[in-house]
Amino acid sequence: MPLELASRLDKIGRDALPLLLRDMPKCELHIHIEGSLEPELIFALAQRNGVTLAYPSVEALREAYAFTDLQSFLDIYYAGASVLLKEEDFFDMAMAYFRRAAADNVVHAELFFDPQTHTDRGVPFKTVIDGLTRASQTAQQELGVSSALILCFLRHLSEEAAFATLEEALPYRDQFIGIGLDSSERGHPPEKFARVYARCHELGLHLVAHAGEEGPAEYIETALDLLKVERIDHGVRCVEKPALVERLAAEQVPLTVCPLSNIKLCVFDSMDQHNIASLLEAGLKVTVNSDDPAYFGGYMNANFDAVFNGLPQLGPRHAYQLALNSIEASFASDAAKSEWVEKLDRVFADAS
Ligand code: HPA
Ligand code: ZN
Repeated sequence: MPLELASRLDKIGRDALPLLLRDMPKCELHIHIEGSLEPELIFALAQRNGVTLAYPSVEALREAYAFTDLQSFLDIYYAGASVLLKEEDFFDMAMAYFRRAAADNVVHAELFFDPQTHTDRGVPFKTVIDGLTRASQTAQQELGVSSALILCFLRHLSEEAAFATLEEALPYRDQFIGIGLDSSERGHPPEKFARVYARCHELGLHLVAHAGEEGPAEYIETALDLLKVERIDHGVRCVEKPALVERLAAEQVPLTVCPLSNIKLCVFDSMDQHNIASLLEAGLKVTVNSDDPAYFGGYMNANFDAVFNGLPQLGPRHAYQLALNSIEASFASDAAKSEWVEKLDRVFADAS
């Protein structure tokens, strides 16, 4: 950041933070759309589709959201997704997310979706992607929120299953911009999917992968070196290898950090223990994201509020940097990025 800008931002008081965090334009780069299914919508869709849930009420379901690690969350997350059957269900789910995003001044969102969670239950790939695509178009028209889809492979399933999913997806190649890797990280290292990623690279898809959430720092290195990813999802365990932290800073590899998720899944004990401030201070291209907002206690601005409340060393300069990082790290066009940076500058100029 230019010194002149930094010193201007450092003159803004911390009391301006609540409005700045709310009003600044931001991009969301790590949101699993199935993780935006609120318990109320799960019950409404279950009723609409005649699906029986293992929980008697919305309250009972919400009470089950006490997680001890990633797997304990994933078990409930996949159960929640079982109510999604029709194109309209995927549309309604995504529109509910886009309305929340618009309220938080998210100008652009790159949505992960997990096709295998649905196709393995007999829901056609077309149903999933057409519902999400229609919501994306409606969000642009009605809410002014730009978006794109990133297809995630479930890493606990085989390479063969990932290749089969890619085959199913290819007729819809123009409806998604990239691929990611999610689900149970430990024991499913990036190299398991090296050949899938090589093929997707040939197809001109953007490449990202979850690494270093629960898995070791080495998974971040192999995601970069063997999968050739452009961003790392989570990546907070990079601090276990100082040389890797230096590399991430030097190469300006974006990390899509998900603060509330990290607390709920016990990656950190509490927000004052979170390493996002030290990663920012070390010059890493860190962004803030909601991951699975319906399960982890909040959408984008709830994540920003929790970070800035928990880490008093962060001020307006860091808020600006996080919003700028999210814009720069997105896969949007340069023209769109310039427009959002201008908006960002206006919000902070008004506060100085
Ligand atoms: N990590 C891995 N897989 C996921 C997550 C996550 O946080 N959310 C949804 N699938
Ligand atoms: Zn995630």
